[in-house]
Amino acid sequence: GTFAGGAARGLRFTPVAPNLIDAVVVPEGYEQGVVIRWGDPILRGAPAFDPDNQSAAAQAGQFGYNNDFLTLLPLAERGRQLLVANHEYTDEVLMFAGWDAANPTREQTETAWAAHGLSVVVVQEDRRSGALTAVTRHQLNRRITATSEFRLTGPAAGSDLLKTSADPTGTKVLGTLNNCAGGTTPWGTILSGEENFNQYFANAGAVLDPEHKARLARYGLAGAATERKWERFDDRFDVSKEPNEVNRFGWVVEVDPYDPDSVPVKHTALGRFKHEGANVRIAADGRVVAYSGDDERFDYLYKFVSSKRVKPGQSPAARRYNMTLLDEGTLYVAKFTGDSPAAEIDGSGKLPSDGEFDGSGEWIPLASGDTSFVEGMSAEEVYVYTRLAGDKVGATKMDRPEDVEPSPRTGKVYVALTNNTKRTATGATGVDEANPRPANKHGQVLELTEARGDATAERFAWRLFLVAGDPNDPTTYFAGFPKDKVSPISCPDNVTFDVHGNLWISTDGNQLGSHDGLFGVAVTGRYEGQVKQFLTVPHGAETCGPVVQERRVLVSVQHPGEIDGATTENPASTWPDGPGTMPRPSIACVWRADGAPIGS
Ligand code: FEO
Ligand code: CA
Ligand code: CA
Ligand code: CA
Repeated sequence: GTFAGGAARGLRFTPVAPNLIDAVVVPEGYEQGVVIRWGDPILRGAPAFDPDNQSAAAQAGQFGYNNDFLTLLPLAERGRQLLVANHEYTDEVLMFAGWDAANPTREQTETAWAAHGLSVVVVQEDRRSGALTAVTRHQLNRRITATSEFRLTGPAAGSDLLKTSADPTGTKVLGTLNNCAGGTTPWGTILSGEENFNQYFANAGAVLDPEHKARLARYGLAGAATERKWERFDDRFDVSKEPNEVNRFGWVVEVDPYDPDSVPVKHTALGRFKHEGANVRIAADGRVVAYSGDDERFDYLYKFVSSKRVKPGQSPAARRYNMTLLDEGTLYVAKFTGDSPAAEIDGSGKLPSDGEFDGSGEWIPLASGDTSFVEGMSAEEVYVYTRLAGDKVGATKMDRPEDVEPSPRTGKVYVALTNNTKRTATGATGVDEANPRPANKHGQVLELTEARGDATAERFAWRLFLVAGDPNDPTTYFAGFPKDKVSPISCPDNVTFDVHGNLWISTDGNQLGSHDGLFGVAVTGRYEGQVKQFLTVPHGAETCGPVVQERRVLVSVQHPGEIDGATTENPASTWPDGPGTMPRPSIACVWRADGAPIGS
């Protein structure tokens, strides 16, 4: 190549080298701090973290476990912002000393319920640096847990498929589970995806009705007891006793973080699957479009187009109205078609002769309000068993769609496809131009351009922007950028954009023998495709929730020390508190030591 150095605005830093250090490692000239850790008190009356005296009551007022999605929202208080974090799941063996997997106690179980969900915490900006610290006991601080009240909204709310003995209305759910990635809406709320909810529900194997059994199986529900054994303490986690409770999870949740008394909702119009998250773009005509991936090998990419238009402004009344936008509209699933001859997508992973994995695609409508477009399924069935609807219409089976986010600058949509080791060279699970590598360990990032730039369009163009891995691997691709000038990257998971329009990618499950991390890459211009690693995370952790502001970068350091055989007594990481301590999932903040903007 002719590349002679330099980097895009916002990405001018010396990349961090791949490593196995039990720390957050940042570029030269940058500093870091921890914003908040699992167990830090945030609500009035909550005690300080005490690993030897954990209780459900304490945890309900403390920051939850395994922070994932993060966002920072503006606040009308000087030097303060509002932080929202998801708490995806609990790692009991890393939480409780002497954890006995066969005999969890009620207190441990209820503590785990309280460690799930979301946190809303006001954070204070340091006057001199990019550091942030939590403001405890602020009246906006809030915990939402596995037992908080939620309202089901949209066309499937009240459906027989959503009724339980505790809730004969089919509209009121207790809790949210496995909240993974998410999105920030233009109207000041957050969206959060309920992902691997199947793991909390026991005894699907005891279901006899073949149709019910097949539906459960399509969502990964089979077998007997769950690993956490919550079903021992609440019948709703036992599918053989409460068959519809599981249908009340797997939705996109919306929370108004500015109103701590608001009841969060679950939007049935966006369908039910293992939502990684959801991200919104406002179309030119004011309608709202939400994109969401179903994170499972061979599952689908979806979008929803609202029928109503957004109400401008940030008033509480506008926010309440806008929280109904995702209840009325049309749900679509994506079908990708390659433009290269099938013979050139041959399982070798080599680029086709036109030089790109690319092509066209269509959004296939599944349902709109009470109308189903899927033969043999009612609209309610489409919303509750959305995966089966995607199967019926021939949607494209993708390599694990994780975060999906439109660029606020260009409207182009970036889809993290994290990996798919079960992809084969040929057959029903065989490669296609959008998923071109068999035994795909490292994943790819797909760029989707809606027809005429119209977010509501039913047609699109696409290309693989990155095919991840070691740049020396001939199957990798970095948008054509010279491969000797990029950082290796593996298993893209969450994406976000900085103020310059650069894409930032966090990884989960790096298969290159080094730790996960955060990367920045320009998506246009002369540095397009120049992937640069900004940080790495400690042993056993994945990187999620990236937020990139002008003067700070935040990441969720999720499950530090999650390595087979590790326990609280024998930890695999001592981040962030240091030698002699157990690891704590936490939010890290990074800024430039000289106070200058990130990457300037
Ligand atoms: Fe929870 Fe798909 O990552
Ligand atoms: Ca092509
Ligand atoms: Ca994720
Ligand atoms: Ca992940």
